[in-house]
Amino acid sequence: MRNKILAANWKMNLTQPEVQNWLQESANYHWEAVGKELRIYPSALFLQQFQHDTHVGAQNFYVQDKGAFTGEISLAQLKSIGVQSVLIGHSERREIFNEDPGMIAQKVQACVQQRMPFILCCGETLSVRNKNAHLAFICEQLCSALEHFALEQLDQLTVAYEPIWAIGSGLSADQHQITEVHLAIRALLIELFGSAGQEIPILYGGSVTPENAKEIFSCPEVAGALVGGASLDPKVFHQLWEQL
Ligand code: PGA
Repeated sequence: MRNKILAANWKMNLTQPEVQNWLQESANYHWEAVGKELRIYPSALFLQQFQHDTHVGAQNFYVQDKGAFTGEISLAQLKSIGVQSVLIGHSERREIFNEDPGMIAQKVQACVQQRMPFILCCGETLSVRNKNAHLAFICEQLCSALEHFALEQLDQLTVAYEPIWAIGSGLSADQHQITEVHLAIRALLIELFGSAGQEIPILYGGSVTPENAKEIFSCPEVAGALVGGASLDPKVFHQLWEQL
């Protein structure tokens, strides 16, 4: 049985004192559990403030190893401080920072070269869903990102389905919607990678809260969650952890 994953995506939130408070308060809660994996994706500024036994990942990176790329951070640099995984293809990177499918595919390749595990995010806009084109849209996002990805690299890959209309909106996808997409992603992964595609964890993200977590975690093929807003308060985040 693979581990279930609860990942906190802090985005561009929390200042230095707030991170210190988060760490102090989170120490009051019990996080160890068999079969569950906790991950934190803070701002790059704070990556080195976590204990070595915490899985800490980066929200972003650039595809080159080093050189004249002002303002950017490479996977080699992230690895050198112990970062254990990265996010790729988050809708905010795609939409606000214009990361196109070519850049997402390059990021996947950079992770392969550096042997850096990654969470590959996908998800449709509301207008795509209203046209009932969401499954094709998501499969296309995944296929183009994973075009040159090979079977022996599969242990690096986690997928996260995050409908854009559910992110930060307070309106999560319902069980039927999540199940439909997760089953389609699973079928695609098996089509691409054979029976090994069965093992790739698929997370859900988009307005996960302690109120809806139980329902979401009970959907078939949901191996955990990528959580934004509800991860900023350790007490709330721990309520998710307990339901995982
Ligand atoms: P949310 O964000 O939980 O605040 O909706 C999820 C995400 O963007 O990863």
